[in-house]
Amino acid sequence: MDKYVINGGARLRGSVTIDGAKNAVVAILPATVLVGGRCVIENVPNISDVTVLTTTLRELGAKVDFIDSGVLEIDTTNISSCTVPYELARSLRASYYFIGALMGRTGQASVSMPGGCHFGVRPIDQHIKGFEALGGDVSISSGMINVQVPGGPRGAHIRFDVVSVGATVNVMLAAVKAQGVTVMENVAKEPHIVDLANFLNACGADIRGAGTDVIKIHGVDMLRGVDYSIIPDQIEAGTYMVLAAATCGDILVKNVIPKHLESITDKLREVGAKVEEYDDSVRVIGSPVIEKINLKTMPHPGFPTDMQPQMGAMLCRAAGTSVVTEGVWDGRFRYMDELKRMGANVTVDGKIAIIEGVSTLTGAPVKATDLRAGMALVIAGLMAEGVTEIEDVEHVERGYSCLVQKIRALGGDIEKQTIPDGTRIGTAL
Ligand code: EPU
Repeated sequence: MDKYVINGGARLRGSVTIDGAKNAVVAILPATVLVGGRCVIENVPNISDVTVLTTTLRELGAKVDFIDSGVLEIDTTNISSCTVPYELARSLRASYYFIGALMGRTGQASVSMPGGCHFGVRPIDQHIKGFEALGGDVSISSGMINVQVPGGPRGAHIRFDVVSVGATVNVMLAAVKAQGVTVMENVAKEPHIVDLANFLNACGADIRGAGTDVIKIHGVDMLRGVDYSIIPDQIEAGTYMVLAAATCGDILVKNVIPKHLESITDKLREVGAKVEEYDDSVRVIGSPVIEKINLKTMPHPGFPTDMQPQMGAMLCRAAGTSVVTEGVWDGRFRYMDELKRMGANVTVDGKIAIIEGVSTLTGAPVKATDLRAGMALVIAGLMAEGVTEIEDVEHVERGYSCLVQKIRALGGDIEKQTIPDGTRIGTAL
């Protein structure tokens, strides 16, 4: 078990290079199963979710090797298993993308109910709705989701009841090689949905409309292997932008697509930071005073829920009262209890947090409850006076590549230490 030890107070300055998008790579790695050949995937982030997915691909029979830093060679010519067991599915949600991919490749899949971050109920009814529309016989037993499609998926018209990233990805994967045409309505429009469609189209798929509300897929018989580079991570970029604003710093965030960052840029300007946009980078210069703002998370192109905890941490030191409304998840404010240990003045009522800014946060021992919650604590620790120790940082390392090195290079005082046995913070009943 590791912890981060942060000595707060430094203004973060310099430049940072953003890695490939977690939520794109976790869809594209399972998608290679559909290809039945060799792909080279570039700009792969060095995060633990990638390690789990490459292990899963090998378990299924694929050959997977890093041929360079951030460059994966994946050969899915031979797939010998259609089962993803609990040990591999429990740590990340995206393991269920192997259902859509295996369904499309072999007509059957058996994947353990997925894990991932806990912020309320995470149903999969929309995934099942899509699989069934494509002809799948879906059952859940002993913690496994089993899908059989004798003869392979058949194109269908599907209208999702809720906008879901996961269901859009999974059903797209299942439909790429279906017989006939699939129309998916009320789909998610996130940049990683577009990246997955671009990857599959480069492999020979016929997917139109990704990035809009309606995706139309003409099923194809075969795909071919390609070289493909993952888009930059919108959320990692947004996180370093917030770090600049939160620490009154000055950070050039490189290797980004500024268009993907617009909702974050707008909010950072509202808090008083200066944001300069270039072709593939943004520079954020923080202001000594963080202005209060109101914020509501929404599916893309709204403000991303995956940036809500980072903004929430920053607003704990705003001048005045901010209202943050979570529009996607039921329980994404658990990190606020940890921030209160650092002196934050926050009232949470369901999906609304009322944050009364305080002049000082103070370092404290805290725990990361999930990936972005952990990052919120890192930001708070860097803003705080004194030492913050963050436990359960494995959550953070699921999604942030080389975090400690990148923050240290910007002048932040953070180090990763191993927690000696028997000295972890106790768990409250
Ligand atoms: N939902 C349903 N039924 C379903 C699926 C979803 O009702 O079958 C509901 C959920 O309960 C939620 C809403 O739809 O209220 C949106 O959920 P969605 O399916 O879009 O989320 P997800 O696919 O499970 C992905 C990201 C999350 C991100 C959300 C929202 C990946 C691997 N995960 O999750 O990312 O918060 O979309 O943008 O892409 C993160 O990176 O920290 C993270 C949690």
